[in-house]
Amino acid sequence: MKVLSFVIISILVCLSAKSQGNNLTIKSGEVWPDTDGKHINAHGGGILYYNGTYYWFGEARLPRGEKERTKQGVSCYSSKDLLTWKNEGIALAVIMDTTSLLQPGCVIERPKVIYNKKTRKFVMWFHHELKGEGYKAALTGAAVSETITGPYKYLQSLRPNAGIWPVNMSEEQQKTGSKEGELKSWSDEWRQAVKNGMFVRRDFQGGQMSRDMTLFVDKDGKAWHIHSAEENMTLHFSELTDDYLSFTGKYYRVLPGESNEAPAILYKNRKYYLFSSGTTGWKPNPGRLAVSGKITGDYTPLGNPCRGTDEENKTTFGSQSTYILKVEGKKDLTIFMADRWKPENLSDSRHIWLPLVWENGNPVLKWKSEWKPDEYK
Ligand code: GAL
Repeated sequence: MKVLSFVIISILVCLSAKSQGNNLTIKSGEVWPDTDGKHINAHGGGILYYNGTYYWFGEARLPRGEKERTKQGVSCYSSKDLLTWKNEGIALAVIMDTTSLLQPGCVIERPKVIYNKKTRKFVMWFHHELKGEGYKAALTGAAVSETITGPYKYLQSLRPNAGIWPVNMSEEQQKTGSKEGELKSWSDEWRQAVKNGMFVRRDFQGGQMSRDMTLFVDKDGKAWHIHSAEENMTLHFSELTDDYLSFTGKYYRVLPGESNEAPAILYKNRKYYLFSSGTTGWKPNPGRLAVSGKITGDYTPLGNPCRGTDEENKTTFGSQSTYILKVEGKKDLTIFMADRWKPENLSDSRHIWLPLVWENGNPVLKWKSEWKPDEYK
C-alpha cells in the first residue's frame, strides 16, 4: 500500500511539475518557457510542419545586445500542440574557423526552413552579415540537412541574381536613369529614381542585396525567396531552383521604393497576402498588408492590418512580423507570428502570436492576451 501511494504521489508531482513548466496557453509578450523552463530562444523565425510535428526555427540570441553578434546560430524547437516546445538544440551552428564566412561574430537573422519533396532534404535560408561589417554585406545564406532538426550543412552566402534584370523592370529602366550620388537622398527625385530601379542598376553586376527575408512554397511546389533589397527600399521575390538550393534568376520587384521589411506571406482564398513592416530597425512601426492574385504581384496595399488602440496600431502591438502559420487541420486558425525586440537583451525578445481575424474578406490583427489553438476549428 505504502509503495502504491508513493508511486501515485510521485506521478502526481511529476505531472504537476510538467504542467507548471509548460505554457499551456499562448500569452503574447510574456516569457514563454520551453520544456526545460527557459524562454524560447528562437527569434525572427518561422515554423515548418512535418510529420505531425511543428518545428520552430529562429535566431539563437545571447542575453546581450546586438553588438554581441551571433555566437551560436539557428535554434530549433519542436511541438505537437504549439504550446509545449522542446529545445532540439542548434540546427545550424556558426563555424569555428576564422576563414569561414559563418564564423562567430557574423550576423544570422530571420532563418526559414522549407522541405523539398523531390530531394527529401530540408533547406534553410537566412539573412547573413559578415563579421565586423555591420549590415553592409546584405547576403543570403543557404544550408541543408537530411533530418529536420539538423545539423544543417552550410553551403554558401551570396547576393542573388547577379547580372540578371528583374522580370518586371522595363528596358528603359534598365538602360537609363539617375545614379546614386547625383540626387539628394530622400528627395522626391531620389525616391522616383529608386522606384525606377537606381539601386537595381547599381547592384546589377555584383548581385542584389538581401536582408530581411522569408521563404514561401507555392502550390506548384516552386519556392520563392522574398527579401528586402535595394537598400531595403524594394522587396524582391526571387525564384529558387527545383532543389531550393540556389536561384533560377527569375525575380520580380514588389512595391518598389516603399521601404518594406519583415516580410511574411499567407496564401488563402486564392489570394497572396504580404505582411510587412516599415524600416525602423528594432523599433516597431505600423504594420502593413498588401494583396495580390499572383505570388509575384502586383500587390495592392490594404494599409495597416492592426485593429487596436492608436498606440497598438502605431507599433503593431509592439512587434514586427516574422511568419504566418496556417495551422494544420484547423481551417479557422492562422497565426501572425512577430517579435517584440529587446535590443539590449535580444534573447529576451518576446513572441507575439495573434490569431488572424477576418474582416470584409481580408485578415486583420486584434490583440488577444491569452488563447489556445483548441479554441479554433
Ligand atoms: C530590423 C530587422 C531585424 C534586424 C534589425 C537590426 O529592421 O527587421 O531583423 O535586422 O533591423 O537593426
